[in-house]
Amino acid sequence: MTETDVQEMTTAGARRRDPLRQVRYSLPTTILFGQGVLEELPALLEQIKVVNPLLITDKGLAATTVPAQVTAVLDKAGVTHAVFDEVQSDPSTHLVDQIAELVLKGGHDGVIGLGGGSAMDSAKAAAAAAANGVSSLKLVGQENVENAPLPIIAIPTTAGPGSEVTRFAVLTDEKAGAKVSIASMKIMPVFAILAPELTVGLPAKFTSGTGLDALGHAIESYGSVWNNPISEGMALQAITLIGQHLRTATNDPTNLQARGGMLAASCIAELAANTTRLGLAHALAVPLGATHHVPHGLAVGMMLIPMCAFNEQVDPERYARIASALEPGSTDIVAALTSLYEDIGMESRLAEFGVIPEDYDRVIDLAVKSDNVDANPREASRAQLAALLEAAL
Ligand SMILES: NC(=O)c1ccc[n+]([C@@H]2O[C@H](COP(=O)([O-])OP(=O)(O)OC[C@H]3O[C@@H](n4cnc5c(N)ncnc54)[C@H](O)[C@@H]3O)[C@@H](O)[C@H]2O)c1
Ligand SMILES: [Fe+2]
Repeated sequence: MTETDVQEMTTAGARRRDPLRQVRYSLPTTILFGQGVLEELPALLEQIKVVNPLLITDKGLAATTVPAQVTAVLDKAGVTHAVFDEVQSDPSTHLVDQIAELVLKGGHDGVIGLGGGSAMDSAKAAAAAAANGVSSLKLVGQENVENAPLPIIAIPTTAGPGSEVTRFAVLTDEKAGAKVSIASMKIMPVFAILAPELTVGLPAKFTSGTGLDALGHAIESYGSVWNNPISEGMALQAITLIGQHLRTATNDPTNLQARGGMLAASCIAELAANTTRLGLAHALAVPLGATHHVPHGLAVGMMLIPMCAFNEQVDPERYARIASALEPGSTDIVAALTSLYEDIGMESRLAEFGVIPEDYDRVIDLAVKSDNVDANPREASRAQLAALLEAAL
């Protein structure tokens, strides 16, 4: 089935939106944004009385100068610390448990997650596992974190998953072959340090991929039936910033203004999504990370156009507003996304990751368990979910 077939499917299944739905918005994280804010790190640690943090980062970043930039700031201020730099993409609960053990053995009293979603989520989950003396797997689910984690500072280097301001840590349960989430207000970082200069070395394929993850958060949050007046403004602002900056950040990597725009956008998109959940693009993209190791941002990017084509049928005005935020003057979200994808060289298809139609059932079995399906503005049957995957094949 092609994308056009998906668009032509019945428009039935619109979910009702309640403009007076109750919402509670709380943000325990203090956000620092701007060139040079990394210099604040020692003062922030002092403020929360952390004297021996563990810096948690990933293997890929370890080959760049980014971790050294952070340790230099700590060294200059005489802050005792240790570094764990072996986080892998889509971190497993097993890896997180090893980090938690290091936290305890090293007598660390706080963690700094430096990197993309994988490093930040590992830090968040390890801080919680260490404080609760249990495997991270035990903390999976809604609000299962009993003891407050050690203080968490998040420093994103992709833009991005926005994990620096979310109550989620997404991990891989290797035994179950599935992605699982710890969802708890307690794992929200105390500080999020957004320094655009730390993202200039991010290669183009990760810049575009992680940027599409952020765009997915913003579009799906704005489309969510659980959206609210607080989240809507932030989601639209994130979409606007991504429309303005993702092309330049991808094609002119050292452009700090574009990097700053994207870093702000990824953070704001998750500030919106915290109260709304997401939609079908994430519902399908998250399992694809576990079943076929499709990088998260690329998976979201691939599912975004089919999802928008499917959802706009039941709420055309809302998707026209999204289109005009992304590309001023446009009212056609599929066209606006297609033009963006062309400009950033986003050509990925699911087949490249070994996905075949026989896999759809397995992916959909995992997808339907996600509350992102319930938040989507249009109900989707298994056959319709399969059609969305087919459109991205
Ligand atoms: N917690 C949340 O709320 C949340 C939200 C969305 C996604 N996620 C999760 O986040 C993970 C994906 O995060 P991601 O897309 O940031 O990918 P990632 O953290 O796996 O990083 C991708 C790659 O980019 C490299 N990299 C990162 N920053 C760099 C830099 N500045 N310079 C050079 N290389 C750099 C890393 O080494 C890695 O190889 C997934 O596990 C996903 O499920 C979590
Ligand atoms: Fe995401």
